[in-house]
Amino acid sequence: MSIQWYPGHMAKAKRQMIEKIKLIDVVIELVDARIPESSRNPLVDEISSGKPRILILNKVDMADDRVTTSWAEKYEDQGYSVLKVNAQTGAGTKSIPDLVHRLTADKRAKLENKGFNSRSDRALILGIPNVGKSTLINRLANKKIAKIGNRPGITTAQQWIKVGKTMELLDTPGILWPKFEDQSVGLKLAATGAIKDDLLDFQDVSVFLLKCLLIHYPHELRKRYDLHDLPLFEVEPTVDDIVTVIDDIGKRRGCMMSGGYIDYDRTAELIIREFRGEKLGKITLERPE
Ligand code: G4P
Repeated sequence: MSIQWYPGHMAKAKRQMIEKIKLIDVVIELVDARIPESSRNPLVDEISSGKPRILILNKVDMADDRVTTSWAEKYEDQGYSVLKVNAQTGAGTKSIPDLVHRLTADKRAKLENKGFNSRSDRALILGIPNVGKSTLINRLANKKIAKIGNRPGITTAQQWIKVGKTMELLDTPGILWPKFEDQSVGLKLAATGAIKDDLLDFQDVSVFLLKCLLIHYPHELRKRYDLHDLPLFEVEPTVDDIVTVIDDIGKRRGCMMSGGYIDYDRTAELIIREFRGEKLGKITLERPE
């Protein structure tokens, strides 16, 4: 994991996050569209209670469009305002200030009724590491804001960035730790690069990734690695099935050791890097139930 999390860190980061949230009108939660549920953190619900919420599915350029739409519908049904965004190019980001403004309409009306002048809408971007918070802040700010690094719990002077005519954004995102409720969440975070690579077992991650690809994206897999004999799996592939596919990919890509054995470490790393580099196409690793 890219952060060393100790209970003391977590408690401090949570306290600081609660202080930040007091200052703002709208919470913008950013998730990775390839793993929307696994890249969320339940703490967002706890600490942003009562505030209007926007859920942004980021990195939609890397995710399966059909599945992204299903997730967006699911979250909308749950009452979130959902946006599909590519923070790198800015696609989908233009509507953020208007949406924030709509979500603060009630609050503004109340303040105006009490005779207060209306002020800018204030928002904060929250999310686990690597979902694209800094990229989105830079995009909205139209300039490069210094990256504070994934070091929650560090106090920095807070500044507001003007976004459009109506919105101000806190210049430092709220960084949350990923939640590892079950092993598959950890594997999905690992596959997408949300966890530091030196802590990963590439072989475990590649087996997990291939299982998902064999079930949901067999054509992409076949095409990328010239696996002409790849069967379509009606039921979940076994570990043996998956190892056969890894063997084939290893052979085709020359990931071999002396004696003609497959180099599983190199093959695993190759598969993961090609998935992350979108060489297999637009892929989403989890679906709404
Ligand atoms: P964080 O602050 O939440 O930790 O994430 P950050 O913005 O640093 O983004 C993590 C990586 O994800 C970066 O790539 C960034 O460019 C990429 N990224 C962010 N949003 C999008 C998006 O919508 N689509 C795609 N395809 N990528 C996105 P990196 O390789 O780690 O850094 P860099 O080489 O881009 O600097």
